[in-house]
Amino acid sequence: MKSGLFVTGTDTGVGKTHVTALLLAELRRRGVKAAAFKPISCGTGGRHDAEIYAKLMDYEQTLNALNPVYLRHPLAPSVAARLEQQRIDLAEIRRAYSQLTTHYSTVFVEGAGGLLVPIKRDYFVADLARDLRLPVLVVARLGLGTINHALLTVRQAQAMGLHVCGIVLNDTVGGHRGLAEQTNIKEVPRLCGVPLLGVVPHGKRGAAKAAREICRKLGLLR
Ligand SMILES: Nc1ncnc2c1ncn2[C@@H]1O[C@H](COP(=O)(O)OP(=O)(O)OP(=O)(O)O)[C@@H](O)[C@H]1O
Ligand SMILES: [Mg+2]
Repeated sequence: MKSGLFVTGTDTGVGKTHVTALLLAELRRRGVKAAAFKPISCGTGGRHDAEIYAKLMDYEQTLNALNPVYLRHPLAPSVAARLEQQRIDLAEIRRAYSQLTTHYSTVFVEGAGGLLVPIKRDYFVADLARDLRLPVLVVARLGLGTINHALLTVRQAQAMGLHVCGIVLNDTVGGHRGLAEQTNIKEVPRLCGVPLLGVVPHGKRGAAKAAREICRKLGLLR
């Protein structure tokens, strides 16, 4: 079965790439033909996200295939494109995505920042998820503040007609889990009205197990 998933976050730096890479690695370890796609990357770090995906995919695809649009400024795509006098070609993104779907049974698409990051005038990351007809997975930080951010993201996604298949809480900090971290696990899915697919621990320990669980809940693994 073909499946695609749009991975968004409640913010930039919440762990979209980290979580996607874990899911990708887990699926490929288990023999699933999986890929990850970063349509647009912006910033001085270069195409770091796509480089991570290319490596996990054993360099089966070029960097351009995994990341067709690259802007040098660490800004929202529409702002970076204006500064660099570039035009973001949505047709090229659609083509590159479609190409990957012909080779892979599962394709994760990592957005830039969060859902309301502008790609063009009046065209946002959420519009790209809708154009690619993908359900959305929301990565949120584990900890204080995440209820608000997760709810804002889920409600906005739904208001724009997207299907939110679930939330992943990512422990970006590590260390002792206080009351906020402990209560998030029940409160975030309850308030958002979408499933909690898993909690990704900080660091490597337990990460593959969490990824396996998430893949199972998504129906990507038995
Ligand atoms: N669970 C985790 N354990 C350890 N490090 C993590 C974890 N989650 C994220 N990080 C680290 O935090 C940083 C930001 O994560 P990541 O790059 O995945 O965020 P992102 O949402 O993809 O950001 P961007 O919006 O720039 O694409 C990275 O250095 C990543 O390795
Ligand atoms: Mg990323």
